[in-house]
Amino acid sequence: MTNILVIRSSANAERSVTNQLIDGYLAQVAAHHPGAKITERNLDSDPVPHVTSATLAGIGRADPDTPHTQSARALSDLLIGELVAADILVIGLPMYNFGMPSTLKSWFDYTLRAGATFQYTATGPEGLVKNTRAVIIAARAGAYGEGAAEFQVAHVRTLLNFIGITNIEIVIAEGLAFGEEAAASAIAAAHGAVGQLVKVPAA
Ligand SMILES: Cc1cc2nc3c(=O)[nH]c(=O)nc-3n(C[C@H](O)[C@H](O)[C@H](O)COP(=O)(O)O)c2cc1C
Repeated sequence: MTNILVIRSSANAERSVTNQLIDGYLAQVAAHHPGAKITERNLDSDPVPHVTSATLAGIGRADPDTPHTQSARALSDLLIGELVAADILVIGLPMYNFGMPSTLKSWFDYTLRAGATFQYTATGPEGLVKNTRAVIIAARAGAYGEGAAEFQVAHVRTLLNFIGITNIEIVIAEGLAFGEEAAASAIAAAHGAVGQLVKVPAA
């Protein structure tokens, strides 16, 4: 059975392009891989808290010794458990101020944990999430391609690579503010690209 973990991070609910593209992806999964198990985490309705001085030790190596650090560790364990159990990680990635939404950054802050999803060795860092591949579904008002202002997909790709996820497929709907026609065409092309990903046999 294929395990799919879906992370949604748009604050636009049902108007969200990334959410619509994820819905399209999941509809294709249901059609082509009916046995797949889907776990969804919506960071808009169920956000991961920001890291603070009260919780930091809970997502580090030290043993958590306060109620705040213990609950941060429990949440980190839960999120990491979902991640490592996933054959496919699907990330909905809106561009907010040239990067990812802060809600998604918080999810990464809780899941990139030394000794759990990566470790430092004598030869440098080693990712420990070896059996997960990723699908990044990005949306943005402007059009950037792979230009210098692109800190959105590049950042997420770097974080995933760091924990060992190197098999990454990326679909970007961009130019969404360039008029209705341009937006409709970008979204239709992205839906097509998402559908193609699912038709490939699951891992
Ligand atoms: C807070 C905020 C910041 C944004 N910053 C950018 C930006 O820097 N560049 C850009 O091209 N679009 C930006 N946008 C537009 C979104 O990327 C665009 O609306 C995209 O469709 C969001 O994904 P969603 O539809 O899944 O919510 C921003 C939107 C919001 C709400």
